[in-house]
Amino acid sequence: MLPVLFLLLLLACPGSSAGGLGITARTLSPCYSADLRPASQRLVSAVGCTVLLTVPPVNASEVVFWEYKTVSQEGVIINYAFDRPANVSRPYENRTWFNETDFSLQIVLQQGDDQLYRFRSELEATDWFQLRVVEPLSEPEIVGNSSVKEGGNTKLVCNVLEGKADLYWWKKNGELLLGSDHIQFVDNTTLCIIKASINDSGYYACVVRNEVSQNETSFLLHVQNAANVVLPVLLACVIMGSLAGVFVWCRRRDRPCRNGCRWRS
Ligand SMILES: *[C@@H]1O[C@H](CO)[C@@H](O)[C@H](O)[C@H]1NC(C)=O
Ligand SMILES: *[C@@H]1O[C@H](CO)[C@@H](O)[C@H](O)[C@H]1NC(C)=O
Ligand SMILES: *[C@@H]1O[C@H](CO)[C@@H](O)[C@H](O)[C@H]1NC(C)=O
Ligand SMILES: *[C@@H]1O[C@H](CO)[C@@H](O)[C@H](O)[C@H]1NC(C)=O
Ligand SMILES: *[C@@H]1O[C@H](CO)[C@@H](O)[C@H](O)[C@H]1NC(C)=O
Ligand SMILES: *[C@@H]1O[C@H](CO)[C@@H](O)[C@H](O)[C@H]1NC(C)=O
Ligand SMILES: *[C@@H]1O[C@H](CO)[C@@H](O)[C@H](O)[C@H]1NC(C)=O
Repeated sequence: MLPVLFLLLLLACPGSSAGGLGITARTLSPCYSADLRPASQRLVSAVGCTVLLTVPPVNASEVVFWEYKTVSQEGVIINYAFDRPANVSRPYENRTWFNETDFSLQIVLQQGDDQLYRFRSELEATDWFQLRVVEPLSEPEIVGNSSVKEGGNTKLVCNVLEGKADLYWWKKNGELLLGSDHIQFVDNTTLCIIKASINDSGYYACVVRNEVSQNETSFLLHVQNAANVVLPVLLACVIMGSLAGVFVWCRRRDRPCRNGCRWRS
């Protein structure tokens, strides 16, 4: 009976791997980007949001620490000796709250907080907890020519201004745009339209996504009818041509033209 209970307990606490103490973390509301569900071992959150790190009851009698670790360094975020106020290290000043009763820690996230965290007393320590901090994406920017001649090629480039996108895709008039000989995607960020036709006119949207956000912007592309270009040119040719004709005709009949140009005489 007892081993079964123990097994059940282990299954119920997935965070406490290998019998170690596990941290639980969650993003606090309001946060418009990240998932608000609690997580053990690893949490993805967004720059500007507040994360709450909580610990199970820990044996401690004199002093406790919150610590961080990156590939290159390790340090103390906060140390708390029970008879003194908590001591917060400089980079975490004014953006962390330590609860002296349950030892939980709240941090308003910055880009550099993407690292490992643990809680430690003089007697025991939790496992390292991985916090991934991602910058939400701002509206992307589309760069390209808004007007292209029928039969010409054109390209639209989608630039992300804030944050890093993991995924790009394009929509035309609200519908997902698929690649073909005619529509090509280059380097994920660029849409090429080969031999544009009138049907290619419309609203093109570039959608960008990362782990904590999605954003988009749209662009109106106008494909000019070739006739719009040809017709004025044709008209200009005709007018020029007939003017030249009249001129030549007048030159030939120079004298009659001088006295009043009576066409029918
Ligand atoms: C406060 O923390 C810093 C960094 O961990 C440490 O250098 C300093 O000695 C601590 N001060 C006290 C009074 O504990
Ligand atoms: C935290 O706030 C205090 C008081 O406003 C200020 O003196 C200190 O420089 C701030 N620390 C950081 C790291 O911004
Ligand atoms: C600290 O934690 C205790 C126990 O979870 C809670 O009752 C208390 O409200 C917390 N204090 C603050 C300032 O959040
Ligand atoms: C897109 O980015 C703009 C700022 O460029 C921001 O105001 C807006 O909330 C973002 N939209 C989404 C859905 O995140
Ligand atoms: C837009 O078209 C003009 C003239 O056709 C060209 O000089 C320019 O490079 C184009 N811009 C882009 C972003 O393709
Ligand atoms: C485009 O996306 C693919 C996977 O979606 C990725 O492997 C590739 O590195 C990306 N290319 C660029 C230039 O971002
Ligand atoms: C343009 O769209 C119309 C109707 O959607 C279609 O009948 C026509 O064949 C298309 N033309 C080209 C050049 O794709």
